[in-house]
Amino acid sequence: MRNGVLAITRDGRLTLLNDEARRVLDLAVEEDRMGLPFGEILQDHPEVARVLGSAFELSHLPNRAELRLKASGRVIGYTLSRIQDDEGTVTGVALLFKDLTRVEQLEEQERLRDRLAALGEMAAAIAHELKNPLAGIEVMAGLLRRRIPDAADVQSLLDDIISESKIANAIVHEALEFVRPIRLQVEHTSIAQVLHDAIRLAEGQVSRRDVAVTMSVGAHLPLIEADHYQLCQVFANLLINALEALDGTGTIAITASPAYLEEDRAEGHLTVPTVTVDVADTGPGIAPEIADKIFNPFFTSKPRGSGLGLAIVRKILDAHDGRIDVNSAPGQGTRFRVTLPVSGGSQLFK
Ligand SMILES: Nc1ncnc2c1ncn2[C@@H]1O[C@H](COP(=O)(O)OP(=O)(O)OP(=O)(O)O)[C@@H](O)[C@H]1O
Ligand SMILES: [Mg+2]
Repeated sequence: MRNGVLAITRDGRLTLLNDEARRVLDLAVEEDRMGLPFGEILQDHPEVARVLGSAFELSHLPNRAELRLKASGRVIGYTLSRIQDDEGTVTGVALLFKDLTRVEQLEEQERLRDRLAALGEMAAAIAHELKNPLAGIEVMAGLLRRRIPDAADVQSLLDDIISESKIANAIVHEALEFVRPIRLQVEHTSIAQVLHDAIRLAEGQVSRRDVAVTMSVGAHLPLIEADHYQLCQVFANLLINALEALDGTGTIAITASPAYLEEDRAEGHLTVPTVTVDVADTGPGIAPEIADKIFNPFFTSKPRGSGLGLAIVRKILDAHDGRIDVNSAPGQGTRFRVTLPVSGGSQLFK
């Protein structure tokens, strides 16, 4: 029986208490105590006792009502009904109830998801509205710079205005990118090609200076079913972070190799062919206290960061049914490991 059931007689003695009722109410009532006044047995649950006690007086009994148990914080949904004998005389009352705590938690999660979705939409709307005024500021500052070519101090202020609005524009662009749902353009993709393109993309944004970048791609790496452009984005973001962490000196080692993922699924044990790519840098590492936040959107430790780089990485990898793990300790560098299924994610076949 999934419902808790509890019954009392007309004179207020407990006659029935099933296992579920004992579980939800946390009651260990020995058999010889059955038959005692319900107020005594339910002394830790005065609110339940009150509901039961009122049953003989009320003209309409509560149906599908809810009650929070003070003792445990659990919420129960309950229905009260009178028990009558053949002549219609009320001989007792039964309380049927169900533990709603789990249902409540699910509803709470649902509400949170709705709130986040609403937040995402709002962020997208704001970002969208900011795009035009920002472009306006940049253009007008450029015009002004041309009007007054001789005033060196004004020129440098205008340069700052222009570069700041470029940065703001880039953040807006990234935020829009982040909230947009991902659509994959899946093709046979060469990881080696992706990595080459990603290095070029990253170096276009952060200069390499004295950083040595090495790349080692296994000879028999299979092509994978993936979105070439979006994977470039993934590895470019990881490389940009590594270059920023290294700040001009050190090494970045990129290694790609085939691997197998052992998975237990409903269909049985599966060996899924994958490709893993490590991006390891010899930078300062990630402090343990921020390690669990780095994938959160807008989390950044950089004065100029938007904190979207890794959030976008994770989003793109999720769409590919891939995964990312990080291994880092202060002073020991950082290694991000990306694992991608060779045959693409389940999403691709939906
Ligand atoms: N290779 C790395 N070494 C050390 N710390 C890192 C590394 N990669 C990421 N981090 C940490 O993770 C944080 C989040 O990275 P993420 O790429 O999401 O944002 P960001 O680089 O700060 O900003 P954005 O990428 O949007 O410009 C960084 O601010 C940094 O603290
Ligand atoms: Mg980044």
